[in-house]
Amino acid sequence: MSAPQGNPLDLRAWLEDVRRLGELKEVRGADWNLELGAISEVSVRKALPPALLFDEIVGYPKGFRVLTCSTASPARLSSILRLGVETSHHALVQKLRGMPRTWQAEAPRYAPVETPTGAVFENVQEAGGVDLEAFPSPLWHEKDGGRYIGTGCCVVTRDYDSDWVNVGTYRVQLHDRNHVGLDMVPGKHGAIQYDKYMKAGKPFPVAIVLGCDPLGYLISGIEVPFGMCEYNYIGAILGEPVAVVKGHVTGLPFPAASEIVLEGWAQPGDQRTEGPFGEFHGYYPGKAHAAPVVTVERVYYRSDPILLGSPPAKPPNDYSYSKAVMRSALLFDALTAAGVPDVQAVWAHEIGGARMFNVVAIRQRYAGHAKQAGHILSQCGVGAYMSRYSVVVDEDIDPSDLQEVMWAVATRTDPEVDIDIIRRGMGSKNDPMFVAYRYAAPYSSKAVIDACRPYDHLEEFPDVAEASRELVEKVRAKWKDIL
Ligand SMILES: Cc1cc2nc3c(=O)[nH]c(=O)nc-3n(C[C@H](O)[C@H](O)[C@H](O)COP(=O)(O)O)c2cc1C
Repeated sequence: MSAPQGNPLDLRAWLEDVRRLGELKEVRGADWNLELGAISEVSVRKALPPALLFDEIVGYPKGFRVLTCSTASPARLSSILRLGVETSHHALVQKLRGMPRTWQAEAPRYAPVETPTGAVFENVQEAGGVDLEAFPSPLWHEKDGGRYIGTGCCVVTRDYDSDWVNVGTYRVQLHDRNHVGLDMVPGKHGAIQYDKYMKAGKPFPVAIVLGCDPLGYLISGIEVPFGMCEYNYIGAILGEPVAVVKGHVTGLPFPAASEIVLEGWAQPGDQRTEGPFGEFHGYYPGKAHAAPVVTVERVYYRSDPILLGSPPAKPPNDYSYSKAVMRSALLFDALTAAGVPDVQAVWAHEIGGARMFNVVAIRQRYAGHAKQAGHILSQCGVGAYMSRYSVVVDEDIDPSDLQEVMWAVATRTDPEVDIDIIRRGMGSKNDPMFVAYRYAAPYSSKAVIDACRPYDHLEEFPDVAEASRELVEKVRAKWKDIL
């Protein structure tokens, strides 16, 4: 039997699929200086935003491209996750349920396979020839601290005292021709590895993948368990290992069809001002601060390279849809695992960055069922961090439709009894409200809103004044020209 070839995570193969789906829009002549960011931001707010492929960017040669909004539709996200093509997010959440657990369990079987060469080596910059300014790094927003070459990226690092390779999505600021800044929040796996090298006084090896099949950054942007390599997890999703090549300077592995890879070292003590940059909730919560600098010794890139951008902004933003889908599936599983019966649907709203405003719809079975669901939604492992509002609605309410959810909140609650406040819950210094917190530690209060009809008054609760589903279907069929 021959050895497995592996999947090189080719972005271009996936883009062909997107083109066939009719979800790719090419944009020519936009400026890296604020236009790419603003165009992407306005476009991603459409009901069904296309992926945007920018070419002929002002000041750059034709072919040096930037892709944004890659994960922002159900069809594209399901194709990235190899779940077929789903066009509704409910169907996608249902398909995803249970999958993260399966992928994690199967990951150990999918170690990446090394191939001798790959498309990423088509062009190489080295030594004095390294010039990061050759790539059209966008200045995404007016108040950003600089140009960000890495947003939809994968930062590959190796543990100091084991062979664990971690792949995390951490933003990468362009400092100059051969230096970039790396923002790794304390506790993130890349930051833990970095700290070990610094403690030992040794340079920290880094490879930064600036574009590949979006499955790469989708998975490096989620919490894969400590000690597990994201390539294994990606392999479990693909059902085949990731094909990697090794960097000539650090020996770190990266996908063989990566678009652009920066390779180098973060030297002990080498830090520069980084940021500010927006966050997933739509604010600049932190000031510019000192962050590690990577001195880039080699750049590898494919001819006509594509930089994968995924900038944060006020939601809906470039990646808020993918976060909403992934977290909704995880919350659904967590509620079920905790024994909450008859969960109908869950939605972690994009407006809350898929963390701060989550809704579950249940079919009420007993007194207290709604409060049970709401408190578990607020406090379960995947939900507790920065959860602010957890809302429970009846099964006639679509939890992903804010208009319906807020109608239920407005009409089915008695605030005095239906809103529970949890004090000193799990917050974050990253929370825009942290400035007004009463504690030095990141505690935060949380609200659980029971917006279900009161269980002990179900019989007498007023009927909803609207056409029945059957009547709506009938008139839709008969009056389709006007409806
Ligand atoms: C587009 C995007 C940008 C992100 N930027 C950062 C960042 O700059 N710093 C950071 O610590 N985490 C960032 N995250 C979150 C991390 O990628 C996420 O927590 C991931 O689990 C980190 O990998 P790790 O668990 O291996 O540390 C970002 C996520 C996404 C999707």
